[in-house]
Amino acid sequence: MTDPQFKADILDCFRATRRAVPARWLYDYQGSKLFDTITELPEYYPTRTETALLESILPDAANIIGPHRNVVEFGAGSVTKTPLLLEAVNPTAFIPIDISGEFLRSSVEKLQSKFPSLSIYPIEADFMQKVSMPNALPDNKALGFFPGSTIGNMIPVTAVDLLRSMRVSLSDDAMLMIGFDRIKDLSVLIPAYDDSQGVTAAFNLNLLKRVNSELDGDIPIDKFQHVAKWNDAMNRIEMHLQSRQDVSFTILGEDFTMQEGETIHTENSHKYHVAEAQTLLRAAGWVPVQHWSDEDDYFSILLAEAQPFAKAP
Ligand code: AVJ
Repeated sequence: MTDPQFKADILDCFRATRRAVPARWLYDYQGSKLFDTITELPEYYPTRTETALLESILPDAANIIGPHRNVVEFGAGSVTKTPLLLEAVNPTAFIPIDISGEFLRSSVEKLQSKFPSLSIYPIEADFMQKVSMPNALPDNKALGFFPGSTIGNMIPVTAVDLLRSMRVSLSDDAMLMIGFDRIKDLSVLIPAYDDSQGVTAAFNLNLLKRVNSELDGDIPIDKFQHVAKWNDAMNRIEMHLQSRQDVSFTILGEDFTMQEGETIHTENSHKYHVAEAQTLLRAAGWVPVQHWSDEDDYFSILLAEAQPFAKAP
């Protein structure tokens, strides 16, 4: 079954002169598999840097956080990072929130076998909306967990919207642990998004495959190439699909053309200075309490606490 929103977003994209699609359409089953492969590439530093950093700071962080929290992960629960956190903070319950029920169930199964006595309350929902916590949940303080620099996918206004809705979902006395990818040399950034094995290219081009198979398209995929470039004004890596020659194709019976060199903007990956990340949190009702970075300053993990909803001058 094709998602009606996918159809609407794709048709909008190809009818417009500045073509762009929401990045989430890259993450179908095949796309998610390819992304998993990306996280293991030698050039893709974020996953391994964040995991090692998390491991090294957890004794410290767990001291600040304290035990018996309800750990709420925005995402299905990462295979390596989540167990590290759960082991360190001795939570009352674990609440993973993910839009893909299938992905959620398989990750809950894995975590439950690692932590047999942990109460897990999976929520199948779009965490961009306000999420209600389950009624049966013990009345403990929450710890939000948002690793992976997923926040980097969002433009700042959307990032603040999400952080604010997390503040509402998690209630008073909550804390939030969140990963931000840092601004760094382009000689490191570009290869991370344009690897030598072409996995990131395949990940990006998979979107066109998906259009062809789900929306009865005949886009000549071999006439497109993956482009990763740095947008200096926006401090972000952008991924585009660029046509290598003039092309014409149909999607659901509608004709489209693209000229040589024209692009479809498919994903953003925003990078931050620590001070900017802190401001983003403050803007959304979170008070930064601590931050940690690896020795190269490639990646930072920030810990924040919910700002009370109180009067201020
Ligand atoms: C899943 C958004 C964290 O921005 O590094 C990686 C996505 N796309 N390579 C990132 C991505 C291509 C990734 N995030």
